[in-house]
Amino acid sequence: MATTMHRTPWPATAARGKDGALMIGGVSVNDLAAEHATPLWVVDEQDLRMRCQAYREAFPDVWVAYASKAWCTVGILQIVAQEGLWIDVASGGELHTAMIAGVPMDKVVFHGNNKSVAELEQAVEAGVARIVVDSHEELGRLSKVATAAGTTVKIWLRITPGIDAHTHDFVRTGQDDSKFGFTLSLGLADKAFVAAREAEGIEVVGIHAHIGSQIFGTDPFVANAEVLIELLARWRDEHDVVLGECNLGGGMGIRYTHEDHPVRINRYGEAVVRAVHDACEDHHFPMPQLAVEPGRAIVGPSTITLYEVGTVKTLPSVRTYASVDGGMSDNIRPALYEAEHAVELANRESFDPPIAVTVVGKHCESGDLVAEHARLPGDLTAGDLLAVAATGAYTESMASNYNRLPRPAAVLVKDGVVRPLIRRETLDDVVARDIPLS
Ligand code: LLP
Repeated sequence: MATTMHRTPWPATAARGKDGALMIGGVSVNDLAAEHATPLWVVDEQDLRMRCQAYREAFPDVWVAYASKAWCTVGILQIVAQEGLWIDVASGGELHTAMIAGVPMDKVVFHGNNKSVAELEQAVEAGVARIVVDSHEELGRLSKVATAAGTTVKIWLRITPGIDAHTHDFVRTGQDDSKFGFTLSLGLADKAFVAAREAEGIEVVGIHAHIGSQIFGTDPFVANAEVLIELLARWRDEHDVVLGECNLGGGMGIRYTHEDHPVRINRYGEAVVRAVHDACEDHHFPMPQLAVEPGRAIVGPSTITLYEVGTVKTLPSVRTYASVDGGMSDNIRPALYEAEHAVELANRESFDPPIAVTVVGKHCESGDLVAEHARLPGDLTAGDLLAVAATGAYTESMASNYNRLPRPAAVLVKDGVVRPLIRRETLDDVVARDIPLS
């Protein structure tokens, strides 16, 4: 099991105790399951803080904004903000969470491809640092909102740079055919720049592009940086305006299984900052204030999900299924993106030879997969605990009550101490919004 940050999908403090049980943050998963029940998200606080720090070190003088869509809950935002990161929000709900968490609003960036007037008003009233404008309609709406509030709002224009990051279709955003942003190749970015400069209550101070998510390697990020600096230089030449801020988005891939080989945060930082530097030199453009927006790479690897096995079904010469007490309602990623997560037997060690097991959830769907290609000990049995790796990003934030399952609890562990982050939903929570007909 893991002890280093970069070589395995497991959180930094994951280790086996004397009894063979998995421990995170010095706490045995058996104690966690006994005290807090399963399914349970377990966040390794040390791992989470280390990743925030690693990003800040890899990007000196860069605004590192945590993309809160990855996991937007008050406790996580408090930790990330304590580590000095900015917070990127993409809805009124995420902004509200950041406010409750006490995040300073001058370190908040507001995103979204269809922000409502109410959300724009909320953001302007809160005084967020930057609003990323995604469309002409939004520019008009924001201009009205800012003017009515008697203020001027600093914006970045979201550019669609025509960069195709080779990742799952559902998480590609930089290619020309995208719902996000102003497409550069079609001249929409240029039109937006002109319109934004003329709009009342708007000060355009920079540009933004996010090319996609779970990207391995640095080439697409370098290409993105080059396109953005070239654009800033061209606007300087054509309009005699130097925009001083450039947000390069998020998207760094992480290790979900032992077969994944993401770049290290420091290598990614070096490559991207060097690319910006070189492009600025080529175009004789002053180095802008940079920003980046990692979500997954901050919170993903810090967390495991603990499940209890309820049934083991062996179909001779076909396969073995192990059903756990959660599934697509607490982790939609395998069903939606064919995502894989490493899985291990967690409550004990077994020396039985591993067999292929399809780990499935308890929902009424065959696509309700937790891990299709797990290798688990042949003596796996009902009552065992399984740990699923790297479940901090886009699991709780995409969770549902499908089949009316109450959503799990989440706890934070460090140095043998457990702190609750999210309480488990009750059956009454599940029906709380229902209005019986009289
Ligand atoms: N900035 C913007 C504007 C974004 O849209 C996103 C992610 C990020 C930053 C952060 O990207 P990250 O560093 O986390 O890759 N649910 C999918 C991922 C969707 C990503 C959406 N946007 C998944 O589970 O893989």
